[in-house]
Amino acid sequence: MSGAPDLVVVGPPGSGKSTIGKLLARKLGVAFADTDALIEDRIGRTISDMFTTDGEDAFRLLEREVIAEALDAGHGVLALGGGAVLADATRALLREHRVVALDVDLTDGMRRTGMSTARPLLAGVNPRATFRSLLAARAPLYREVATVRVDTSRRSPNQVVALVLTEL
Ligand code: S3P
Repeated sequence: MSGAPDLVVVGPPGSGKSTIGKLLARKLGVAFADTDALIEDRIGRTISDMFTTDGEDAFRLLEREVIAEALDAGHGVLALGGGAVLADATRALLREHRVVALDVDLTDGMRRTGMSTARPLLAGVNPRATFRSLLAARAPLYREVATVRVDTSRRSPNQVVALVLTEL
């Protein structure tokens, strides 16, 4: 996809990466891809299943590989899974790309994810506390890779997209 305005979208679960990514891609007239979906296509089962069967480390390894391939191919707008920034090697890859980091607060993040079991890291006994520490631990990593940061809390997808396009 040479010449296309390649963008990567990162942020915690519930920050709206896929929704915003798709809208951004439509506005920019480029393709959209989501690495969680690319991974599920490749393994032929859900990420949740992979976490349970193979463990998080195996997932992170495959995630890094899929992201590297997608970045290499030229991707239009690419949304990453929320934990992709945990890997040093993945953050290093992102340095050469324009990265939109979406923020969300605890209340909106919890509401949007519904704390669903499809998100294995949030399926514990105290999801609110788990989510709070996840947001705190990852905030510096999203900041590190961000070209542009937009808080999606109490904003509609269209408002977020307009802000991203203004800030880029
Ligand atoms: C994860 C977030 C998920 C998915 C996996 C791990 C995380 O993606 O990649 O379950 O570590 O935060 P979303 O951010 O799209 O929920």
